[in-house]
Amino acid sequence: MFKFAPTGFTLHKNLDETATLRILNAFAVDVIAIPSVEDLFWYVAQNVVGQLNFVDCVIYQANQDQTELTQVAALGEKNPFGRSIINPLKIPFGQGITGKVAQDRKAIIVDDLLKDQNYIPDTQPARSEICVPLVSRGRVVGVIDSEHPNPGVFGAPEMEVLTTVAAMASAKIELLEEAERSKQRYQDLVKSHAQLSEETTNRKALESKLYEARKLESIGRLTGRFAHDFNNFLTVISGNLELLEGDISPPLSIASLTDAQTAAARGAKLIRDMLAFSQRTRLNPVISDLNDLVINTCERSKHLLTHAVELTLADDLWVVNVDPKVAENALVNLILNAQDSMSEGGRLEITTENITHDWSDKQALATGLDPGNYVRLSVKDQGEGIPEDCLAQIFDPFFTTKGVGAGSGLGLSMVFGFMQQSGGAVEVESKVAQGSIFRLYFPAASSNKNDLLTLNP
Ligand SMILES: Nc1ncnc2c1ncn2[C@@H]1O[C@H](COP(=O)(O)OP(=O)(O)OP(=O)(O)O)[C@@H](O)[C@H]1O
Ligand SMILES: [Mg+2]
Repeated sequence: MFKFAPTGFTLHKNLDETATLRILNAFAVDVIAIPSVEDLFWYVAQNVVGQLNFVDCVIYQANQDQTELTQVAALGEKNPFGRSIINPLKIPFGQGITGKVAQDRKAIIVDDLLKDQNYIPDTQPARSEICVPLVSRGRVVGVIDSEHPNPGVFGAPEMEVLTTVAAMASAKIELLEEAERSKQRYQDLVKSHAQLSEETTNRKALESKLYEARKLESIGRLTGRFAHDFNNFLTVISGNLELLEGDISPPLSIASLTDAQTAAARGAKLIRDMLAFSQRTRLNPVISDLNDLVINTCERSKHLLTHAVELTLADDLWVVNVDPKVAENALVNLILNAQDSMSEGGRLEITTENITHDWSDKQALATGLDPGNYVRLSVKDQGEGIPEDCLAQIFDPFFTTKGVGAGSGLGLSMVFGFMQQSGGAVEVESKVAQGSIFRLYFPAASSNKNDLLTLNP
């Protein structure tokens, strides 16, 4: 059926070896710059096969599924419309001579088509045919096919030349496909990078929305609570003032006035505590001895004390630079909380100590204080203690477990804000049913008590 003709290296006796090599060399050089598979096929059809005196040439491209060949380039009679192929011929793998070459991946020469059962007659009468596959990465990517009107035209030289052309074209196809794959990989990379950036941006936007929502929620809670409490005080104040207006005679007027003053004072305290929490209190620090401050506070708050207070005050306590009025307010808040927690009784202790905080205990203090000298003021109770799930919230403004009217939830917020503003810190340790201890750390102004006189004459 087919043979490798034992003729010399002369194609159809029209082209000599030198001319053939020259055409192949030109192809080898030109192929580098060919930009696409389509251009390659047309180049091969017209500038290689065409120049080598084949009378016609059709190049077919195989589909991805390796089931069908489609005519993509042609030369001679089979190429009447330049580079456009109208109704390109499609041949299933395995059908006809080209289909068989694609399926078997083996080049063939047919000497007499009239005697070949695979031959599918064409509009152009042909007797000889040579057909070679284009194979890239183990796949058939196409077929180069040439026919001739005379029988027995093709032999070993044509086969050798066409298989060389096919090998060069296949190598180029492999390169183009690799370039396409890298381009695709690069584009995928660019796309996923863009997606990633978009996701990051979206996440950031979501996070900031969430933050905003939380902030608004807490401001809302704050404003609501504040408005509610303040409204109560205003109602008392205006109610009592109205009463005073109608009846200015004692003793009702005195009682109303007192109620109005109490409400106004509580309103003012609320505002003070809120300012302290937001660290906006105008502090007037003076060098102070916290032992004196403790004693004076207990003395002044006698009317508020429901429990005996045990004092353990350190000798030679270092002095601190604090606003004594605000510090007293903080201490009163801690004392009141301690008392509130001991409705069933218990001991209330207040202690002062000098503390030197080293780098080595930096981890030990939950307050994140810098190493240095501090005066520690502790208020300890044997009350109900604070459940673990509340501990993280007790310093939040308006957090209270005391019910409406009983507590504003600003006491510890005020303590926290004040300690921060004073360069110190507050720490809490608590166990349910055993009690709590609140520790205030004030930075020592001097470790020499005698300095009190010189620093604060
Ligand atoms: N010593 C303590 N023992 C047990 N629980 C405490 C103690 N101190 C504070 N708490 C808890 O922390 C909450 C917040 O305390 P905070 O002093 O800020 O507000 P409050 O005492 O409820 O109201 P306010 O002090 O404004 O009148 C309290 O309601 C209570 O649940
Ligand atoms: Mg309180």
